[in-house]
Amino acid sequence: MIQTEIGTDLKKAKLLLDATEIISIPTETVYGLAANGKNPQAIAKIYTAKKRPISNPLILHYKDASSAFQDVTTIPKNAEVLAGKFWPGPLTMLLPKKNNIPDAVTSGKSHVAIRVPKHELCLSLLNTLDYPLAAPSANLYGRISPTSPIHVHEQLNSRIQYILDGGICEKGIESTIIGFENDNVIIYRLGSISIEAIETCIQKKVHVKNKIEDKQAPRASGMVKHHYAPNTAMFSIAKKHEEENLSNCGFIGFDTLHPDFPNENQFLLSENGNIDTAAKELYRSFHVMDAKRFKSIYIEFMPENGIGKAINDRIHRAIQKYSS
Ligand code: TXA
Ligand code: MG
Repeated sequence: MIQTEIGTDLKKAKLLLDATEIISIPTETVYGLAANGKNPQAIAKIYTAKKRPISNPLILHYKDASSAFQDVTTIPKNAEVLAGKFWPGPLTMLLPKKNNIPDAVTSGKSHVAIRVPKHELCLSLLNTLDYPLAAPSANLYGRISPTSPIHVHEQLNSRIQYILDGGICEKGIESTIIGFENDNVIIYRLGSISIEAIETCIQKKVHVKNKIEDKQAPRASGMVKHHYAPNTAMFSIAKKHEEENLSNCGFIGFDTLHPDFPNENQFLLSENGNIDTAAKELYRSFHVMDAKRFKSIYIEFMPENGIGKAINDRIHRAIQKYSS
């Protein structure tokens, strides 16, 4: 059986990746499960370890914008503008791929997802490699994305050899995924960069095609409706069952304790009402509350400002599994 080690050894990380192995890497959003993005055998190991369907493509992580843009055939003006503003950072762009990108990365699609992560240790690693890293979030398929090395270890222990320890992820919610249709910027997955920040940058309205209820086949095909779910049944506090005995239930709230639950059953995402802190704490709250084995977990939606919409998108997906 593989022993999973947690450490900060960049040489070891590089050795494993060069040998077509997979390791977990830190990013500013969530931990990734990384492999040589130009090597189909290495990429195949990601799908096996995560139990992810091969129809669900991967994001390529680059050390800088120029190496990322080298792997695509078209670079719209706004792609350059957005890269100038947000890279390194939690923005992923879908652009037409060059032939040197293996089909294993894009699941045979014409477009590849590219981003430059904003995490010192991750960038140091990328700078030692002569290939980009293909990396989905380092959770088992459909489960909670990890924001700390311990959370990666809980899910992938004995499936990978090494977790590169870059501390707790600063953002806590995945990157925002965008694409370009004609002259428009489309958001396919809400994420750590808000809609408003993108609109301010390009001086134009963007379209959002990320909604769970969107009947159109979503471009970001991994956006199945019940992603990010804990094992414990999770419900919106707005749908609280009147007769339920709450002494055995948990509550995840924004900044205020709920009078109907015992205090020790509650997790506040940000006691001083900071929406960025709430994003950083969201998946950790799922992990912590799941471990307490409550009968149910109730959660409230966050204010919709800034990254609040992206947090609420993840909450919707987490409760969806238990409401259908
Ligand atoms: O913040 C993040 O983006 C993290 C960190 C590790 O970078 N990564 C991440 O990867 O969230 P993953 O695989 O969990 O989610 C990536 C999403 C999936 O929904 C996938 O379907 C979509 O991006 N995607 C990737 N490549 C695509 C492509 N070529 N076309 C359409 N959708 C794509
Ligand atoms: Mg994921």
